[in-house]
Amino acid sequence: MAQERGHLAGVGVTRIHHTGVVVRSLEDAYAFYRDTLSLRLVKEAVMEDQGVKAALLDLGNSLLELLEPIDPDFGIARFLETRGEGLHHVCLEVANINASLADLKSKNVELIDEEPRAGLTGDIAFIHPKGLHGVLVELVHAPTALRIGE
Ligand code: CO
Repeated sequence: MAQERGHLAGVGVTRIHHTGVVVRSLEDAYAFYRDTLSLRLVKEAVMEDQGVKAALLDLGNSLLELLEPIDPDFGIARFLETRGEGLHHVCLEVANINASLADLKSKNVELIDEEPRAGLTGDIAFIHPKGLHGVLVELVHAPTALRIGE
């Protein structure tokens, strides 16, 4: 069954955990995503080590992550300045992030994070977009992943 889940099958992907969107201002983005679209705000936090203020909104079986850059020295601020607001990354939930990273390394996939690190939603690691046809992909470890409703 796992082999039917696409080309990342050996990585143990179980679902889209969240989609990350870069915005200029969380407050401005709330006007649409929270107030007009009526998505429930699950969590908001400043992540100084990542140069962002981030928010998670409940999409039912997945989450929407809004990312407001707060420090010009981080890549996410440069992303906003060069590309503007918009889709930044897709986060895939995996059953065992260490096993997933080992599997990717064995397949010579270029990783941004060689080891998992603590993120807003749990233990995370980013895969370099050049191996994924231009999509920045984040992995999150299922046992530590933020569940909807938390
Ligand atoms: Co994310």
